[in-house]
Amino acid sequence: MPADSLFRQLPSAAELLSIDFDGQTLQVPAGVSLAAALLASGVRHTRSTPVSGSPRTAYCMMGVCFECLVEVDGMPNCQACLLQVAPGMQVRSQHGARRLGSASALEEHQDDA
Ligand code: FES
Repeated sequence: MPADSLFRQLPSAAELLSIDFDGQTLQVPAGVSLAAALLASGVRHTRSTPVSGSPRTAYCMMGVCFECLVEVDGMPNCQACLLQVAPGMQVRSQHGARRLGSASALEEHQDDA
């Protein structure tokens, strides 16, 4: 059920960049969190709960609720509200129980830190 986003970018919007979300290319503002970028693009659900499968998305926007978990560049369980959006990000929604990241994905992200 697509709907217009309740979030609006301020008129002095920064440059746009492209990310992929569940196979769809989104043009999002640079310099914002991944969660904000997804919400501004009209994405309503970024994960589902393990027990009931209820749809969830970012709620607190400050790293507390963990409702914003997504897979980013192959790394599961990333808090979208704590990541700055970057060009070419490959973002996937998460469904059901969390899975542990692969060793290679973990090493790759540790090298970036
Ligand atoms: S929105 Fe609450 S932890 Fe990300």
